[in-house]
Amino acid sequence: DTGVPSDISQPVVARLSRAAIFIVATINAGAGSESAVKSLCADLSGIVKAVAFRDLEGELSCVTGFGSDAWDRLFGSPRPLDLHPFREIRGRHHAVSTPGDIVFHIRAAGMDQCFELATHIMSRLDGHIVVVDEVHGFKYFDNRDLIGFVDGTENPVDQGAIDATIIGQEDVTFAGGSYVVIQKYLHDLKAWNQVPVEEQENIIGRKKLSDIELQDSAKRTYAHNVLTNIEENGEQLEIVRDNMPFGQVGKGEFGTYFIGYARSPRRIERMLENMFIGNPPGNYDRLLDFSRAITGTLFFIPTATFLDDVQA
Ligand code: HEM
Repeated sequence: DTGVPSDISQPVVARLSRAAIFIVATINAGAGSESAVKSLCADLSGIVKAVAFRDLEGELSCVTGFGSDAWDRLFGSPRPLDLHPFREIRGRHHAVSTPGDIVFHIRAAGMDQCFELATHIMSRLDGHIVVVDEVHGFKYFDNRDLIGFVDGTENPVDQGAIDATIIGQEDVTFAGGSYVVIQKYLHDLKAWNQVPVEEQENIIGRKKLSDIELQDSAKRTYAHNVLTNIEENGEQLEIVRDNMPFGQVGKGEFGTYFIGYARSPRRIERMLENMFIGNPPGNYDRLLDFSRAITGTLFFIPTATFLDDVQA
């Protein structure tokens, strides 16, 4: 046994893209809606292939995930070991838990391909799901988020990204799968922009203009990259993030769509506890004084092989 799963994973570790659409939906009650979702699962790879082929340089990809209750309704047992509804966290700040049975994370170089694929998915599910959140994300200058810092730098890449996100022998039945946590954050940019840049850098733990990490000796204990740096047995527990800016200028809405993939939700939950409660409690992430999480969901990402084999 090489420990390498024979099933093919979904493109969890796809290269970060310039455009993305995130759709979170609930599945309507009734066997008809459940079978409509299942029939889409089996056909999805073909639909993605057709839209992707129209612009091969667009590198279109789609990751599909299922919430805990939806898993039971659609697939029953066995169920992924660590799948459970997103648990809210109440500390100095509040990480809310919101509804979501199914997620589509669509990425491509251009919004045209994302939009086209989303349209086909939605027309297949028309009348069977209710979209609770749809966000069209874009890459901003130098891969910055709307608070002005480069976002994504410390993501693991290549084998490191696979090791961080893809389930192995810890859950043999679901090896090759993954988990994703999604939170939609809205920033109070007026308040943030009044914070002197030096203090903003203390909050993030990096230089704003150059994106160079602060030296450990200079970092505050509450820095974002201190609180999200967690270890087990001396080894760093990593996740793969693909945060995207989004917003509506006229509404004064400026956001970051946080999306974090990991082979276990526990490591993401530990990061969230450090951010929202603090480590030690009270030493929380000051970014949260300016950014509010208005959604929170956890999904399991089965393998592409599993999706292809779903029987409606
Ligand atoms: C790093 C922004 C939420 C986990 C960073 C960095 C920025 C950033 C600018 C530094 C550059 C980089 O390495 O990517 C944000 C914003 C958020 C947010 C704007 C939402 C408002 C979260 C959440 C988590 C998280 C909810 C985890 C649950 C991490 C991790 C790193 C990081 C693991 C890398 C730390 C390191 O090893 O240096 N984030 N983040 N972030 N963030 Fe976030």
